[in-house]
Amino acid sequence: MSVTEGQVLNSLKSVEDPDLKKDVVSLGFIKNLKIEGGRVSFELELTTPACPMKAQLKTAAEEAVKRIEGVTEVNVDVTSNVSSHRMPGNEEILPGVKNIVAVASGKGGVGKSTVSVSLAVAMAKTGAKVGLLDTDIYGPSIPIMMGVTEKPEIRGDKLIPIVKYGVSLMSIGFMIPEDTPLIWRGPMVMKAVEQLLTDVEWGELDYLLMDLPPGTGDVQLTLSQKVPLTGAVIVTTPQDVALLDVVRGISMFRKLNVPILGVVENMSFFSCPHCGGRSDIFSHGGGKTASEKLDVPFLGEVPIDLKIREGGDAGRPVSADDSTSPQSRIFISLGEQLAARISALGS
Ligand SMILES: Nc1ncnc2c1ncn2[C@@H]1O[C@H](COP(=O)(O)OP(=O)(O)O)[C@@H](O)[C@H]1O
Ligand SMILES: [Mg+2]
Repeated sequence: MSVTEGQVLNSLKSVEDPDLKKDVVSLGFIKNLKIEGGRVSFELELTTPACPMKAQLKTAAEEAVKRIEGVTEVNVDVTSNVSSHRMPGNEEILPGVKNIVAVASGKGGVGKSTVSVSLAVAMAKTGAKVGLLDTDIYGPSIPIMMGVTEKPEIRGDKLIPIVKYGVSLMSIGFMIPEDTPLIWRGPMVMKAVEQLLTDVEWGELDYLLMDLPPGTGDVQLTLSQKVPLTGAVIVTTPQDVALLDVVRGISMFRKLNVPILGVVENMSFFSCPHCGGRSDIFSHGGGKTASEKLDVPFLGEVPIDLKIREGGDAGRPVSADDSTSPQSRIFISLGEQLAARISALGS
């Protein structure tokens, strides 16, 4: 008796995506199913290449099919098709971008840009198409952290993002001369920001991370209203996490109905470059506790780490290097958590 499609799909119904809480057949993940005698092959099309459960899902699918009598060989090809989640409206803004994530913080200096950069590079490494948009008018530090010194090219009436470490990058810093006084802010700033939203040739992107200026002022508010965001990530440090700044940031997004995708606790603990040991300089873990209290997801913690600081200064984010280094792994895991949160929106 030969193996049937019904048998295979039936068996695959036992495999559940733990983030989406449905089985892979109902989710429409099974594509291109082929059965030749006892040989079964199919694609397992996930909602993100950064799926944290990729390996487990593949194994579970293989094993489920192997259990069917008569099956001699199973070939599972894991692919992905990132689903788009944007606030409705403003379709003309960033049209080819499936998901736009604001990276925000209650105040400056908590490592928002450091986290944005390393996260973007880590997500790009998983195979996702990733962009990074630096809108921090007060300190556009992303070009430096990404080691970009050139200015973007202009083609026709469009700015072309600079691609570095697999990430498409655009910064308001390219448009404001470094010595521009603070007085320049205001209407001119909004004009430059608008240009970043409408005049950049991003092409097709799965995820665009947008580094917001710190705090919850007018620029942040306007941007969060204008841009059809998928959600927001809040970066904080352990000693600030419960402070009013963070709460204010969260409530700004909540008022605009922007989902909070999660909180990242940066400089969470000290990771010693000599012995590799960790010490909790500030009482660590506040991020998790506060997240629970504020009822927002916790994406993870990033230690204070010499390599992370040096990577930023040298224009080579830690996640651009060896993916197996502890620093890289931290950002890969953060990227997976973020991608999983996005995939789970609306499910
Ligand atoms: N996890 C970390 N470990 C070590 N240094 C860090 C870490 N995160 C940020 N820094 C350093 O702290 C400073 C502020 O970080 P930055 O990303 O510019 O903050 P923000 O964008 O929130 O103002 C930078 O010098 C950066 O290198
Ligand atoms: Mg910054």
